[in-house]
Amino acid sequence: MKSVRVNAKSKAYTVYIANDLLKSAGSLISKITGVSKAAIITDDIVDALYSKQLEVSLKEAGFETIKYVFQNGESSKNTDNLVAILNFLAENRLSNQDMVFALGGGVVGDIAGFAAAIFMRGIKLVQIPTTLLAMVDSSVGGKTAVDLPFGKNLAGAFYQPELVICDTSTLSTLDNEQLSNGFSEILKYAFIRDFELLNRLKSNKTLELDGIIESCVKIKRDIVELDECDKGIRNILNFGHTFGHSIEKCSNFTISHGKAVAVGMAIMTKAGVKSGICERHCYDALISILQMYNLPTESIYGAQELYNAAISDKKRKGDKITLIIPEKIGKCILKTVPLSEMRTLLQLGLN
Ligand code: GLY
Repeated sequence: MKSVRVNAKSKAYTVYIANDLLKSAGSLISKITGVSKAAIITDDIVDALYSKQLEVSLKEAGFETIKYVFQNGESSKNTDNLVAILNFLAENRLSNQDMVFALGGGVVGDIAGFAAAIFMRGIKLVQIPTTLLAMVDSSVGGKTAVDLPFGKNLAGAFYQPELVICDTSTLSTLDNEQLSNGFSEILKYAFIRDFELLNRLKSNKTLELDGIIESCVKIKRDIVELDECDKGIRNILNFGHTFGHSIEKCSNFTISHGKAVAVGMAIMTKAGVKSGICERHCYDALISILQMYNLPTESIYGAQELYNAAISDKKRKGDKITLIIPEKIGKCILKTVPLSEMRTLLQLGLN
């Protein structure tokens, strides 16, 4: 079993990565927190596949379990569903000695994590990601949120889990599209910090997913330990996300996060090349590896639509925004620019 220790300022915890870990979830968590009431929050797809295993494991360790299931998809990451989860926790008389288990992909982790952060001003949370994207990114680092009609993740909190359990056997039920979504975030890590990871991804015949997840979690760990609350260097994890979120929003969330981020990375890298920040071969390498992982590289939306969506994103700070632009593979810079310059760079990245 691989494990990565995250020493965030607000809490230290371990991310475990291995096959068949759901079976051990109860014993892993009871060693850290003791036993209590466990509220499993999940979506309908993951429920049918994995709730039973988790329930059995928690019961064997001595937990009492209850479960809340909602409809899968980004459209469930809203304030109505958040309030329904909070009411479910209250109706079942959870106290701050009890625990929320977020079992699922990014949507489940974000909304269940936010519910745990605000229920009784915070009850313990265990993240059990079941998608590649959630394992390498959203389950680690404590970002929790719901979407508002004006944009993605506009209401949320930083709230670190007690433990993250990545059972890589759950990846076997993902379709190619969901796997590509995860690879989009993995490629992000390679481009911001890890040239060697890119080489491993290029030779994908020998991909060892546990090791790749571990590499991404270690990069994220290093960044979160420096800047838990996203005031500086953590912004680098948003490479591709500014215009990625715009694309998701313009598509009414019918374009997945991973695909949107892939296009966002291509736009920013092309803008970097055209403005003399980025080496040309870096852009060529990005496009070829995105294509290798069946990810899109071009936006179907124009500059004005993407700009309008970007200015209501939470990454805007007043009339400025911080963009993440690669200089070369494994190294990105943070560039804080006025919105007018963002508009110019966006146009360069689209042409
Ligand atoms: N997904 C970006 C971050 O956690 O900061």
